[in-house]
Amino acid sequence: MLKVIDLKKKFGQVEVLKGISFEINNGEIGVVLGRSGAGKTTLIRCINGLESFDSGKIVLDDIEIKSSSDMKEVRGQIGMVFQNFNLFPHLSVIENIIESPVRVFGKNKDEAIKEALELLEMVDLLDKKDHYPYQLSGGQQQRVAIARSCALKPKVLCFDEPTSALDKENIQKVEDIIGRCKERGMAILIITHDTVFAEEIADKTLNISDGLLL
Ligand SMILES: Nc1ncnc2c1ncn2[C@@H]1O[C@H](COP(=O)(O)OP(=O)(O)OP(=O)(O)O)[C@@H](O)[C@H]1O
Ligand SMILES: [Mg+2]
Repeated sequence: MLKVIDLKKKFGQVEVLKGISFEINNGEIGVVLGRSGAGKTTLIRCINGLESFDSGKIVLDDIEIKSSSDMKEVRGQIGMVFQNFNLFPHLSVIENIIESPVRVFGKNKDEAIKEALELLEMVDLLDKKDHYPYQLSGGQQQRVAIARSCALKPKVLCFDEPTSALDKENIQKVEDIIGRCKERGMAILIITHDTVFAEEIADKTLNISDGLLL
């Protein structure tokens, strides 16, 4: 369960988040909507620890995060899929997926490979396991990025505009994969401008306007 309580964030004098509160249960999908500049990416970056926040709280199951220094405790438990995928260009698909579990979290390599193969099956890319990112289409890279995030078994998985670079067929695939993540009990937070996608996938809609939820 992800709970955000009265979250505030300023950049200089500009108050971008003015007190945001919401809750997403395990196995639930929250979609963040709002015009450009409303604070959507900032919200997700604060939840991920990529950006510090000024006040408020983020609660992950029973762990309270009151500042970015508390974020270390939950590292790996909040996953993020970036708009531009951010795959490691010099690593193959399977190496991209096992890199963080093995190097950062000390997971046994054979075990990590076994799980990575299962995840590649889930995203329908088993045949591309030894390809490098440049050999993949945008939609395929996006699916590898999702598999890579899932490999850490996060409690919360955040997506910033997961469909913006994709065609209809790939949007459907990403939607199916996000559905699988939901079945695995993750709390999912998705920023999107795609209202059709939002309507299809959302259990909960969060409308940000001018730093506040409507
Ligand atoms: N690092 C930063 N330093 C200063 N201002 C920032 C920074 N990051 C974001 N902002 C400002 O915060 C506001 C919210 O930005 P944010 O990226 O969260 O918007 P968004 O809702 O994701 O917009 P979009 O739909 O265009 O992606 C904007 O006015 C932006 O200029
Ligand atoms: Mg944004």
